[in-house]
Amino acid sequence: MEKGKVFECERKVQEVRLVQLDVAVVDHRSPTRWVFGTFAYDGNNPAKNPWDRMEPVGLQWGSDPWTFPAVPKSESILARESVLNRKIGTPQHFGCDGRLAGPVDNKQSSCLSCHGGAYSPQAGVAATATTTPPIFGFTGLCTNYSLENAQYFDNVQFPMGYTGGQYPNLMNLDTSLQMQVAFFQYGQYKQYGQPVACSPPK
Ligand code: HEC
Repeated sequence: MEKGKVFECERKVQEVRLVQLDVAVVDHRSPTRWVFGTFAYDGNNPAKNPWDRMEPVGLQWGSDPWTFPAVPKSESILARESVLNRKIGTPQHFGCDGRLAGPVDNKQSSCLSCHGGAYSPQAGVAATATTTPPIFGFTGLCTNYSLENAQYFDNVQFPMGYTGGQYPNLMNLDTSLQMQVAFFQYGQYKQYGQPVACSPPK
């Protein structure tokens, strides 16, 4: 869980606000073994069935480690591990330097750059900000060439460790950030005797 965020306790059936729909599939031709894709809702699309109003935003199979800010601008090539639907017609900011991110994602990041940080400490140990990769960003994310950006926009494949080696003994969770949340909660419970509590909605 992102620091400072809270889980709300109340669970109830409510109206869906459909903005973005993400998919991730395994494809062995991919340098990360994954292909991530996303669809965005187009309210102007007259289709009867709301699902038919989802328009493809793009596909991504790698984080483009030869593209800025993973390399200096002078050495950067155009991103080639994402395809973006630039004619989509609904507002899109996409991701960092030609990489794919959806309308509700961080535009300084990209699908696989964030999901490539899906690592957990050993089972039963709660993760902290310094023991796992900074998936939600760091100073200079996407804005300047740095070691952190080179690591963040690198391609790794399960079961490789995170690039750089400064986070030893982590479990590679094969891009699943839901698994990461689950391991975090389990570690929290094992180490401190209780999960991170939910809080009543305000
Ligand atoms: C800055 C980080 C970030 C970016 C960028 C991001 N995601 Fe995620 N994504 C998450 C987190 C965190 C979760 C888990 C949320 C939860 O269930 O608590 C998640 C969950 C998912 C899941 C469910 C399975 C899983 O891995 O947990 C899919 C599929 C997914 N994202 C696809 C995408 C796609 C496709 C994109 C790009 C269009 C994208 N994500 C961009 C952080 C990110």
